[in-house]
Amino acid sequence: MSTFNHTPVLGRELLEGLGVRPGGRWLDATLGGGGHAEGILEATSPDGFLWGCDRDGAAVEAAGRRLGRFEGRHELRRMNFADVGEWLGHGTVDGACMDLGVSSHQLDTPGRGFSLQADGPLDMRMDTRGGPTAADVVNGWEEGDLARVFRELGDEKDAGRIARRIVRERAVRPFATTLQLAGVIAAAAPRPWQRTHPATQCFQALRMVVNAEVESLGRGLEGVWRVLARGGRLAVITFHSGEDRVVKRFFRERAMEYRVPEGQPDVPELREPCRARARLVSRKPVRACEAEVLANPRSRSAQLRVAEKLED
Ligand SMILES: C[S@@+](CC[C@H](N)C(=O)[O-])C[C@H]1O[C@@H](n2cnc3c(N)ncnc32)[C@H](O)[C@@H]1O
Repeated sequence: MSTFNHTPVLGRELLEGLGVRPGGRWLDATLGGGGHAEGILEATSPDGFLWGCDRDGAAVEAAGRRLGRFEGRHELRRMNFADVGEWLGHGTVDGACMDLGVSSHQLDTPGRGFSLQADGPLDMRMDTRGGPTAADVVNGWEEGDLARVFRELGDEKDAGRIARRIVRERAVRPFATTLQLAGVIAAAAPRPWQRTHPATQCFQALRMVVNAEVESLGRGLEGVWRVLARGGRLAVITFHSGEDRVVKRFFRERAMEYRVPEGQPDVPELREPCRARARLVSRKPVRACEAEVLANPRSRSAQLRVAEKLED
C-alpha cells in the first residue's frame, strides 16, 4: 500500500471561505489524499456529511483510509467532477470545494508519468481506465497542434521549436518515457539560468490535454454550482492562470446585476438590470502566506476564490 503524501494547500483559508460549521452537507470534488475533506469532516463534527470524488482511483482509496475514523459520515466515489450532477441532486449541498490540478502523490509516483524527476512511462492520465496517454499525444499529434498546446496551456515561448524537435525525434524513436521527453525538450530549449526544469511548462500542458482539464473544469463548475443549495458556497483553488481566469469569469458572470442581450457588446446603454445569482466572498483571490509557501513551495502559485450562491 503506497502512502499518500499531499499537504492540503490553503487549508484554513478554504474552511473559512466555505464557512464550515457543525452539521450540514458538503462536497469535496477533488479528494486527492483527503486533506481538505478531513478538515471539513473535523469542523462539521459530530454529524456533518461529506460526499467526495476524484477521478483517480488511488486518490479515492487513500482518502477512504484517511477518513476511516469518520465512519458513516461520508460517501466517496471515483468519478470526474464534470459528472457530479448525475450523482447528487440540485441544491443538495451547503458548501463545495475544488482543489484543481495534480496531487503531490501523482507527481511523486514515477509510474504515473507526471514526474520530471524520475523516469516512468509517459502516461499522465488521472483516470488510468481509458483515454489517450501523453505518449499517444506526443507520438501522434501534428507538429502545429503540439506547438499550440505548449503555447496556450503551458505559456511556453519556444513552443514551435520544441514541437519541431519532438516530431524529428519521434521519427527515429517514438517517445515512451518521461525522461526521454524531458531530455529532448531540454535540448530544444536549454535554460541553464532557470530554477525549474526546462520541460516543466510543456509537461503541464500535456497533462492538461491528456486529462481534458479545461473542458472538465467548465462542466465541473456548472455541475457543482447546480448541486449547491441557495446560500451555499463554492471554493475553488487553482494553480494555473488560465484556470483561474475561467473560475473568475464563472463567478463574475453570476455576480453581475445586469445582463447584456446575447451577441451585443457590454456597453451601459444595452444593460438590462437583473438579480445577481452569486456574491463574491472576496474580490481578490486569497493566496498562501509566506510561512505556508516556505513549508510547502507548491502553494506559491495557489489562488483561492469563493462565491456564495444566491439562487435556487
Ligand atoms: C491538488 S489535488 C487535491 C488534494 C486534496 N484537496 C487534498 O487535500 O488532499 C487534485 C486532485 O484532483 C483530482 N482531479 C483533477 N481533475 C479532476 C476531475 N475533473 N474530476 C475529479 N477529480 C479530479 C486529481 O486526480 C487530484 O487527485
